[in-house]
Amino acid sequence: MKKLRKAVFPVAGLGTRFLPATKAIPKEMLTVVDRPLIQYAVEEAREAGIEQMIFVTSRGKDALEDHFDVAYELEATMTARGKPLDALDGTRFPPGAIVSVRQQQPLGLGHAVWCARDIVGDEPFAVLLPDDLMVGSPGCLAQMVEAYEKIGGNIVCAQEVPRERTASYGIVTPGAADGRLTEVKGLVEKPRPEDAPSTLGVVGRYILQPEIMPILAATGEGAGGEIQLTDGMAALIGRQPFHAVTFDGERHDCGDARGFVLANLALALKRDDLAGAVRAWLDRA
Ligand code: G1P
Repeated sequence: MKKLRKAVFPVAGLGTRFLPATKAIPKEMLTVVDRPLIQYAVEEAREAGIEQMIFVTSRGKDALEDHFDVAYELEATMTARGKPLDALDGTRFPPGAIVSVRQQQPLGLGHAVWCARDIVGDEPFAVLLPDDLMVGSPGCLAQMVEAYEKIGGNIVCAQEVPRERTASYGIVTPGAADGRLTEVKGLVEKPRPEDAPSTLGVVGRYILQPEIMPILAATGEGAGGEIQLTDGMAALIGRQPFHAVTFDGERHDCGDARGFVLANLALALKRDDLAGAVRAWLDRA
């Protein structure tokens, strides 16, 4: 079994749900407490042993690469002023550890992943959707890697979702279950509640085999008129092992303002330096 070394971060979206905040900055640079959303996903990947982060970007997303670069002027100035550089921990990567490729048209998540095919090459890879902020110890991808090292194949992260919300998720047709591991017998993107095969929803973490790439190249438009990763994955079922891992932790859907505000509160309440003040304010509000 090949070791998992690479991760794809689809970050090309326009972030229209967050306008006006995202008019001039990428959605993934919005901060939860004190770091941008993308940094949580990158730190999670690094914890899981990922060596190369592949950003699938678009025009106007340069800030994402800058964030993980060495900011020479900033560091030199801070050092000259005797300021420690630890506030920059988790953001300084050597050349080659963060690479990017552009998705030139917004054709969907499956297309975004396919755009990374040459960088991924012939090895398994992870996909992390930064909108899903996963809080757990070990982290979400690390939990999936632990399962992957035992069973191999393809793995999605899954979570029970309310039936009325199935149209927002990829939904699993579950097979045999063993603890947190469930065999995936089928996958369908955003079914209506009455059509959903279960309420086991896919959340934004995946470990996939490279054979998905030629499948995605041939995948036509699916739900919402987009090339869906779910449809490509569905075509792999039966050819390769496919499982879902239920995450032991908390997920915050930062795809809209509600989830984003709640993520800020939840993470602030976990911080010793902030929890007291935040809780006191909430109690008064
Ligand atoms: C994407 C996937 C969907 C998955 C979801 C998880 O949808 O297409 O299968 O369940 O992420 O967050 P999106 O939220 O981009 O519409």
